[in-house]
Amino acid sequence: MQLDSSIAAVVTGGASGLGAATARRLASHGVKVALFDLNAAQGEALAREIGGVFCRVDVTSEAQVDAGFAQARAAHGQERVLVNCAGTGNAVKTASRDKATGEIRHFPLANFDRIIQINLVGTFRCIAKSAAGMLTLAPLPDGDRGAIVNTASVAAQDGQIGQAAYTASKAGIVGMTLPIARDLMNEGIRVNTILPGIFDTPLLQGAPEHVKAALAASVPFPKRLGQPAEYAQLAESLILNGYLNGESIRLDGAIRMAPR
Ligand SMILES: NC(=O)c1ccc[n+]([C@@H]2O[C@H](COP(=O)([O-])OP(=O)(O)OC[C@H]3O[C@@H](n4cnc5c(N)ncnc54)[C@H](O)[C@@H]3O)[C@@H](O)[C@H]2O)c1
Repeated sequence: MQLDSSIAAVVTGGASGLGAATARRLASHGVKVALFDLNAAQGEALAREIGGVFCRVDVTSEAQVDAGFAQARAAHGQERVLVNCAGTGNAVKTASRDKATGEIRHFPLANFDRIIQINLVGTFRCIAKSAAGMLTLAPLPDGDRGAIVNTASVAAQDGQIGQAAYTASKAGIVGMTLPIARDLMNEGIRVNTILPGIFDTPLLQGAPEHVKAALAASVPFPKRLGQPAEYAQLAESLILNGYLNGESIRLDGAIRMAPR
């Protein structure tokens, strides 16, 4: 697939961080980009900057996702590209004892379910709806009808203390990548997943400098946090390279996360 103004794309979580960098990169080729996000202020500002559209979408809501695709397609036509970046995390131990009071508690199941709903079910919801729309398109000369990129995390493979829900959600994305690629293989839609290591996004910007420095030092090479533009570059490659399909790729400077 070539990236130019004949291509429409949807980027979920596109108002911030990795999604915003990807939206900017796609738009730099002339691609018409729709941003799905909860954050209307940032999403609208970025949409203005890149000449795209912002759709206020919570990926856990079937009705909002449907309305978002309808809005994006009314503005740009049927998308050939979907990049799923919407996601969130939490850190709670499965069961633990309060050191001061001795009180015993466990991971609240509603919190576990919320992470799964946003990261895993939300990603699949957008894939299923987008792929169904892509089936209405004619294939391009190279046979591609569409390309989908998902965002997991290195936590899918080396989840840390407190990351049971986050890891389960991200491992689910990695696990479903191949069967979805197989589901869509006769339709010319490729599906790949990126497992980012530690990236310098708003997700981390709340962390104190010494914590960020320690995280950077823990990366084998290069000894720094990943830049959102580096994620965007890989997302672009996964879209452009017609032989990449059903794959999950770590983008992490060779980091392997320790238990904490
Ligand atoms: N930054 C990292 O180090 C890192 C590492 C591994 C994986 N990831 C993953 O990359 C993705 C992007 O993270 P980021 O670092 O850019 O974070 P970010 O917080 O900058 O961006 C995430 C965006 O997703 C949006 N979002 C959250 N819940 C949503 C929902 N229910 N519906 C629609 N939009 C929603 C947020 O509003 C936000 O704009 C996430 O899935 C995250 O888990 C990030």
